[in-house]
Amino acid sequence: MTGRLIGVGVGPGDPELITLKAVRALGMADVIAHFAKAGNSSHARAIASAHFPPGAEEVPLLYPVTTEIPHRHEAYRSAIAAFYDASAAALAERLMAGQTVAVLSEGDPLFYGSYMHLHVRLAHRFPTEVIAGVTGMSGCWSTVGAPIAQGEDVLMVLPGTLNEDALALRLAQADAAVIMKVGRNLPKIRRALERAGRLERAIYVERGTMAGCTHSPLAARDDARAPYFAIVLVPGWEGAA
Ligand SMILES: C[S@@+](CC[C@H](N)C(=O)[O-])C[C@H]1O[C@@H](n2cnc3c(N)ncnc32)[C@H](O)[C@@H]1O
Repeated sequence: MTGRLIGVGVGPGDPELITLKAVRALGMADVIAHFAKAGNSSHARAIASAHFPPGAEEVPLLYPVTTEIPHRHEAYRSAIAAFYDASAAALAERLMAGQTVAVLSEGDPLFYGSYMHLHVRLAHRFPTEVIAGVTGMSGCWSTVGAPIAQGEDVLMVLPGTLNEDALALRLAQADAAVIMKVGRNLPKIRRALERAGRLERAIYVERGTMAGCTHSPLAARDDARAPYFAIVLVPGWEGAA
């Protein structure tokens, strides 16, 4: 008998924003896998560890590279593909032994999450369940109390890694926008927002819903590199009454 794979969304950071369903799934897991940068501990683990059952095996999955090599570079692609292959193989062994394997994901597992790389390698081989999580972006707009989209507003979600022209073009088309993966891309994001005439509405949020969360109008923030958990919100619903 084979085991079961469960992709578990643990929410945006506040431990109270994990779902009842995620807590129940973690309580039944034999194995709990979590991603982290080598040398760091997993944020998803920190959010959810209070719900790990005693005796569950933990499998840290440590990225061999993160930002050291540009993501479009072949060396990055091959290192990261080999890492996901090896991670999937390690979990497949446990699934073949009949174990229930939970893979933690910050926010929602199927929204820009590393879990997806395991899902595409394993879900066709083993019974799989995905448990939705509160996304980082909804945690952020709730934290700042910014109504993000209403009525016929079109909301765009943009990776800050896009080039400046692509960002400016999309931002000019959208009624509302969320820019993820801010990090070292902040100066470029600011220029794109300015070109699209949206800088005044942009809100910068760091560590949304977590301890130490801060936020401000983006125009009031300098261009120093942002941390990993940083997002820019451009609320829609202009002229709202
Ligand atoms: C790889 S994506 C993962 C998204 C995640 N699966 C989700 O559902 O939110 C990581 C990016 O999401 C954004 N993010 C996620 N959680 C956040 C938070 N609590 N505060 C600020 N930004 C966050 C940041 O832009 C970060 O670089």
